[in-house]
Amino acid sequence: MQAAKTTTSHQTVAISGAGSGIGQALAVHFAKQNWQVVLIGRRPSALQATEALCRDQAPSRAIMMCPLDLSTQDAQAKAEAWIHQTNLKSLDALINNAGQFVRGETLSADLADWTRLYEVNVLGPLRLTRAFYPLLRQSRGAILNISSTLGLKGTADTVAYSASKAALNNWAQAFAVQAARDGVRVNTICPGLVDTPIHSFHEAADKEKTLEQLRHLQPLGRVGRPEDLTSLAYALCASGSEWTTGAMLNIDGGIHLV
Ligand SMILES: NC(=O)c1ccc[n+]([C@@H]2O[C@H](COP(=O)([O-])OP(=O)(O)OC[C@H]3O[C@@H](n4cnc5c(N)ncnc54)[C@H](OP(=O)(O)O)[C@@H]3O)[C@@H](O)[C@H]2O)c1
Repeated sequence: MQAAKTTTSHQTVAISGAGSGIGQALAVHFAKQNWQVVLIGRRPSALQATEALCRDQAPSRAIMMCPLDLSTQDAQAKAEAWIHQTNLKSLDALINNAGQFVRGETLSADLADWTRLYEVNVLGPLRLTRAFYPLLRQSRGAILNISSTLGLKGTADTVAYSASKAALNNWAQAFAVQAARDGVRVNTICPGLVDTPIHSFHEAADKEKTLEQLRHLQPLGRVGRPEDLTSLAYALCASGSEWTTGAMLNIDGGIHLV
C-alpha cells in the first residue's frame, strides 16, 4: 500500500504566466483558499500586480515571485537555482499555464513562430516540471497543464499553436502514467475562447462588438472569463481529486461540441 498524501495547512502552488489573464485569476483563487502562491512569468511588473491582488485575499500567506523566461534553454537550471535560493521546501501543485498564441496557416506561417511556440508551450511546461518535480514527488502533488480546445482539434489558421497544444496534451498523458508511480497526478484543462490579453481584441476599442460576434459561436452564449476556469482548476489540484490523473477537461462554453 502506498503512503497517503500528506497535507499541511500551508499548501503551495506554483503558477506560470501568473502576471495576467488565466494565470492571474488562478493565483488569486488559490490565495483566496489560503494557499501560498509562487508566481512565475517574464515581466516582474505583471507579477507584482498579481502579488498585490493575492495579498488582498490572503494577507498572511507568502506570495513569492520567480521571474523566468520559459523559452530559454537554461530555464530549468534557473528555476532550480531559484528553488535553492529561496529555500522552497514544499510544493503541492504546479500549474503550467504560461503560453503564447499566434495565427498562421500551414503553407505561409513563419517557421520561427513554430519554434517559439514549441519552446514556450511545450518545452516551457517540461522545463518547469523537471525543476519542481522533486518537491511534487515529496508531497505526492499535482501538475495541471492549461492547454486548449485547439490542442484537441486544430484549425487551418492556428496550426503552430494547435500543434503545440496537441503535443502538450500527448506529453501530459504519457507522463501521467509515469508520475502515478510517485503518487503525482497530471491533469489538463482545455479552455475555449477566454477574454484575456492573449487576444488582440482584449484591448481593442471595438471589443464589445467583437465579443458580440463571437458570442454567437459559443453554445453557452458567451466568451469565457478567466474566473470561469478557477474552480475546476482548483479542484484538480486540491485534496478530493486524489484518484484523478490523465484527465483532459474541456472548459469552453461547449465550443468543442460544434
Ligand atoms: N485566452 C484564451 O482564449 C485561451 C484559450 C485556450 C487556452 N489558453 C491558454 O491559457 C494560458 C494562459 O493564457 P491567457 O489567455 O491567460 O493569456 P495571457 O494573459 O497572455 O497569459 C499568458 C501568460 O504567459 C506568460 N508567458 C508568455 N511567454 C512566456 C515565457 N516565454 N516565459 C514565461 N512566461 C511566459 C505571459 O507573461 P509574461 O509576458 O510576463 O511572460 C502571460 O502572463 C495559455 O497557455 C494559453 O495558451 C488561452
